[in-house]
Amino acid sequence: MNIDGKPYRTIWLGSDGISAEIIDQTKLPFALEIVTLRTLEDAALAISSMQVRGAPLIGATAAYGVALAMREDASDAGLAKACDVLAATRPTAVNLRWALDEMVAELQPMPEAARVAGAFARAAEICDQDVETCRKIGEHGMGLIEAHAERKKGKTVNILTHCNAGWLATVDWGTALAPIYQAFDKGISVHVWVDETRPRNQGASLTAFELGAHGVPHTIVADNTGGHLMQAGLVDLCIVGTDRTTANGDVANKIGTYLKALAAKDNGVQFFVALPHSTIDWTLDDGREIPIEQRDASEVTHMTGQLPDGEVATVAIAPPGSSAANYAFDVTPARLVTGFITERGVTPASREGLSLLYSRQEAPS
Ligand code: MRU
Repeated sequence: MNIDGKPYRTIWLGSDGISAEIIDQTKLPFALEIVTLRTLEDAALAISSMQVRGAPLIGATAAYGVALAMREDASDAGLAKACDVLAATRPTAVNLRWALDEMVAELQPMPEAARVAGAFARAAEICDQDVETCRKIGEHGMGLIEAHAERKKGKTVNILTHCNAGWLATVDWGTALAPIYQAFDKGISVHVWVDETRPRNQGASLTAFELGAHGVPHTIVADNTGGHLMQAGLVDLCIVGTDRTTANGDVANKIGTYLKALAAKDNGVQFFVALPHSTIDWTLDDGREIPIEQRDASEVTHMTGQLPDGEVATVAIAPPGSSAANYAFDVTPARLVTGFITERGVTPASREGLSLLYSRQEAPS
């Protein structure tokens, strides 16, 4: 996608051929800063500090993290250590484990001397595949938006999304936002309700930033607004992403997603979840088994923003003595999901729906 007319991905091979570069998402929307990852530790920190975030991008960064680790120690022990360090960064998005498994499958059969080149090549391939996968998700999801536009005789289609599942959460295109970009590019009139997504504000900071950069009309709303909007008939459909989808079709996504799905059900609004195959966890049969990340309480008691003089500052919004809990994700049961938008098409959110497109343990490209 473009920022100020210049094309970007969220992660790419450094010009020296032995590093990776990322957009530091903790600095958006106020500054566009590129950070170079040179070591395994750099990659792990980028994921845990959320310089990169979003399930597919976490996986892509982990793949480069393995490549960076191979430069220091390409032995089996070095590979195992890299996977352990990276797997410990964030627990919910299964794309992380998927990417590590892909890297191990590629590198383990190779002689040590070939592993650095092999790892960088596979990491680049994972990134390219993610771009193509997300482009296809966009193609399939665009048809759903088009159907609403036809039903509304060309009037604006209002779509609600939660968190950031756009190109900043993937390598390019995004999952939930890819259909919106493709509909917009085709000339369909769309408008996006952007949930601010407390506590990290991925909606207000990232989704609004990237939709704005692409020219897509959007409105930021406080997280609790969705129910009201749906009651008022101001939402035609919801599209969100997911960090882990279990074999029975339950989905973990950013905290607050479940409440939007409940409101959508109560108001007869379609609720779609967009996902690539790398987000399916075939080892779990029930969303209640998904590990839910708990982050530092200070993310709830404090907020970061830009002061009028341009300085970015973090301020307290709660009394110093209050404790706070910071659950980063929740689980939306499959029964509340209208359907999955995948790179292979749209399918019911169920075990049967998934198996129409994928066979268990399959890792299609
Ligand atoms: O905590 P984050 O910002 O990594 O959470 C991201 C989300 O919840 C996204 O909706 C999800 O990763 C899907 S990304 C295409």
